[in-house]
Amino acid sequence: MIDKDIEKAINKQINEEMYSAYLYLAMSAYFQDISLPGFANWMYVQYQEEVTHAMKFYRYLVERGGRVELHAIAEPPKEWKSPLHAMEETLNHERHITQLINELADLAEKKKDRATLNLLQWFIDEQVEEEANDEEIIAKLKMVGDSPSGLLMLDSQLGQRTFVDETAGGE
Ligand code: FEO
Repeated sequence: MIDKDIEKAINKQINEEMYSAYLYLAMSAYFQDISLPGFANWMYVQYQEEVTHAMKFYRYLVERGGRVELHAIAEPPKEWKSPLHAMEETLNHERHITQLINELADLAEKKKDRATLNLLQWFIDEQVEEEANDEEIIAKLKMVGDSPSGLLMLDSQLGQRTFVDETAGGE
């Protein structure tokens, strides 16, 4: 049986991951609207990844005999000032998620819950990758500056991203 405080914190994290999915789906719609289908694709894949993150926590809680509780998902913003602004907000959001994962790890450490710590290690590694991906796109957008051809080239590059469920298997 899982500790009640950890159960509560994981339920909160399921909601945070679902909000992340919702946020990136809203960004995907924004990028479609401003005719950048590659960025829209990248964000759509990000949305799919976030749902798998929520479900990884969900499955873990069920496996540990915990009770999953789903809460309302907050409404994400609809507009951003520019592609750069949307990507900077993405990075800010991921830093917030990293902080929450670290707090969850602190709690699991305090409760000496090694199984939860083991699960969280996967998320800690994933957050390093997510922040690095966002930083790379931000750096490229800054390089592109006001060049429409540079932006279209980056858009076409981001259009190549495909969804792979990295949470599949091994559980
Ligand atoms: Fe599930 Fe992007 O953190």
